[in-house]
Amino acid sequence: MAYDQDLAFIYRNYTRIVFGINTVNDVGSEVDYLKCSKAFIITDKGVKEAGLVEKVQKGLGNRFVGMFDECPQDSGFHIVSQAAEMARAAGADCLVSVGGGSCIDTAKGVAILLKEGGDLHDYSGYQLLTQPQTPHIAIPTTAGTGSEVTYFFVIKDWDRNFKIEYGDDYIIPNTAILDPVMTQGLPPMLTATTGMDALTHAIEAIHCVEHAEPFSDMMAYGAIRLIMEFLPRCVENGGDLFARGQQQIAAAMAGIAFFNSMVGLVHGIAHILGALCGVPHGLANSILLPHVMKYNLDECPERYALVAEAMGVKEKGMSDEEAAEAAIEAVRDLTKRMNVPQRLRDVGVSEEILPEAADASLGTGPMIANPKMIYEAEQVLEVMRNAY
Ligand SMILES: [Fe+2]
Repeated sequence: MAYDQDLAFIYRNYTRIVFGINTVNDVGSEVDYLKCSKAFIITDKGVKEAGLVEKVQKGLGNRFVGMFDECPQDSGFHIVSQAAEMARAAGADCLVSVGGGSCIDTAKGVAILLKEGGDLHDYSGYQLLTQPQTPHIAIPTTAGTGSEVTYFFVIKDWDRNFKIEYGDDYIIPNTAILDPVMTQGLPPMLTATTGMDALTHAIEAIHCVEHAEPFSDMMAYGAIRLIMEFLPRCVENGGDLFARGQQQIAAAMAGIAFFNSMVGLVHGIAHILGALCGVPHGLANSILLPHVMKYNLDECPERYALVAEAMGVKEKGMSDEEAAEAAIEAVRDLTKRMNVPQRLRDVGVSEEILPEAADASLGTGPMIANPKMIYEAEQVLEVMRNAY
């Protein structure tokens, strides 16, 4: 786990994290803490029907000024514009997102439009904003994306069927409320696949040889330990609030790890498969992760040995290569134990689309950060075929 002699980095971790059972009831005081008074909720129909928004609304009391409840699975530019218009009309001075990654990402887009105006296309890219944006409290109802603590968000261009990535320090949520009660109703398969997204963030943060540093490594290390122990417990018994809470902490730690370091080939391919074939993000990651680790192994065995150590599968006397293989096996065992599909063919990906997907994934941010240099589509295709 040696670092370069000339190691240099900036580590960011801006989000105030409020953790605990029923902490969502205190959302009103968190609005006060941000010196705001008019909170606008951004959520989706499913979260609302599950009764989770009601808790937040109650917690906000008279600070609640309105709600947008139509976030789809992959948020789009028109969605963000609609939500921003409603929030503006309601006179909102802060946003409260309640939901999975798509709701939180929508709110990040709305935070920009409320402050800067115009169209979200104008701000695509990295670190382009010049001032703090609309205050945002994120209340995740899944435990995986880490969006509640990161500077990333992804919005889909529905017309071009392409996901556009954003990254800006000014868009990191001010506060994340991690209340285990908010994730206890998540069904087993969604719990498993969103949880695997978090594991992927942690492992990709570690394998990112260019950007990994001691702080992000330890966040990732801690996340992996918690996920290996508590994710299967969450899947087996959704009502286990202790396990749910530990998994929420792990997801946030993995989020902090990967936004300071980076992700890699797994995310590069998963984003494209999400856009082209509608494969849910965590599910695509879960299938691809062991194949990408195998593909990268000779480039960074010591990094995967650190993963193995966090997983508790690195035995005394093992070489880095042996430990790395053990880590790959542990990923497979975990997904099998949770009954997550193992192959791309099982999740609606057609073999014919693989070359197009490989082409499209080249040159995206995650690809550039992969430990093994990816310079041609054939390399990506090899990994996808193995996972097919
Ligand atoms: Fe992810």
